Amino acid sequence: MTIPFIEPFRIKVVEPIKMTDRAERVEILDKVKNNLFKVPAEDVFIDLLTDSGTNAMSDRQWSAMMVGDESYAGAKSFYKFEQAVKDILGFPYVLPTHQGRAAEGMLFSKLVKAGQFVPNNRHFDTTHANVMALGAHPMDFSVDAAEDSAIDPPFKGNMDLEKLEVFINEVGAENIPLGMLTITNNSAAGQPVSMDNIRKTAAMYHRYGILFIIDACRFAENAWFIKTRDEAYAGKSIREIVLEMFSYADGCTMSAKKDAIVNIGGFIGLRDEKLKLRISEKLIIHEGFITYGGLSGRDLEAVAQGLYEGVDEDYLRYRESHTRYLGKVLQDAGMHVYQPTGGHAVYVDAGKTLPHIPKDQFPGAALANMMYVEGGVRTVEIGSLMFGHKDPASGEMVLAKNELLRFAIPRRVYTRSHLDYVGEVAKDLMAHADTIRGLRITWEPELLRHFLADLEWV
Ligand code: F0G
Repeated sequence: MTIPFIEPFRIKVVEPIKMTDRAERVEILDKVKNNLFKVPAEDVFIDLLTDSGTNAMSDRQWSAMMVGDESYAGAKSFYKFEQAVKDILGFPYVLPTHQGRAAEGMLFSKLVKAGQFVPNNRHFDTTHANVMALGAHPMDFSVDAAEDSAIDPPFKGNMDLEKLEVFINEVGAENIPLGMLTITNNSAAGQPVSMDNIRKTAAMYHRYGILFIIDACRFAENAWFIKTRDEAYAGKSIREIVLEMFSYADGCTMSAKKDAIVNIGGFIGLRDEKLKLRISEKLIIHEGFITYGGLSGRDLEAVAQGLYEGVDEDYLRYRESHTRYLGKVLQDAGMHVYQPTGGHAVYVDAGKTLPHIPKDQFPGAALANMMYVEGGVRTVEIGSLMFGHKDPASGEMVLAKNELLRFAIPRRVYTRSHLDYVGEVAKDLMAHADTIRGLRITWEPELLRHFLADLEWV
């Protein structure tokens, strides 16, 4: 058979989407000051802004929701949720939260103090902001290969262990309350981290007495890449690989909105009961009692079921091929696609695709806005608009390492013809790519500026 992939599901419920015309979209974008986060979803035809919480749930998840136990304390649904986390990730202690950033916020606020440092292969925006909000410094140590969009080694998401060790010695382990590793590495084009690198990162943190926390959002996709790219794991099941990955960590923060295939939810997984108790106090103040953490019983049910579905091998095979197919379609349209394609998204190197736009005029955001104008496709910039910030010491502007445009793929939502449509829009746009202008900021908030900033065309 030569078909690129097949969906291992059929469609039972549909949601109509509406096509707008170009003139309408120009007007809409102008009205929201050129920030796609402010465009009403109804005015988007294909929404690839994020894979987070935008998933289609299965019939089993929907039916599990019907038996959700809404008790305040000790709901049956909590124990099912806790069991699923134990089965799949192997953490004995679990605290539910309403989403990933709440898990980060709860954990960090108990451990991280102003002036301290939190290393990671690369922080995602909310993780970065949660560290900064405590007056601490998020530090990124991805391998250099992550910055080169053209080469395709198998594990570009890895931590650079040499750089990490130099840094630990420089600032002193006593100033590093916890160390992280994000799998897959969302800010580095969704690239996976190898098992060897997870093991060695853990060993290094532990050698220096640093608590090791995995940012687990896309752990199942990471496991799939380990299985298919590391011969030593080809014969292991995804479940075995996942358990091994987490066996090296002291805990995790998880956004269930990704690989647990739900619309809302998250958790903290831990091995230390004392730490769980310390965080519990904070959780009760901000999220809710420790057996629901800001979720309803039916949400806990959906996460529990979704965790098992997210590690299904037929599903993961389809997921990776689906994403790779979009990568090919965009490459054929003439965009510089970051190699290799990640698990949850295709990242286009906007710096290379629009070489005439300087970094400080946000080529990624310009390309995103024009994909919207051209065809109603919404994507997100992962570059200097998202990560550019003033260095607190020097006051100088620090720009992102790569100017990327992310086409994130909601799980089980779009079919191949939707992806072909995105490719056609990209092709039409690339025919006049040299006429695309850069953007400048006219207003920005202090933290997480990309969400709310106003922009104008240069
Ligand atoms: N960590 C990573 C690696 C993420 O990608 C995200 C969210 C979070 C933490 C926070 O989780 O949204 O549930 O609070 N990423 C989304 C994205 C928003 O579009 O990539 P959350």
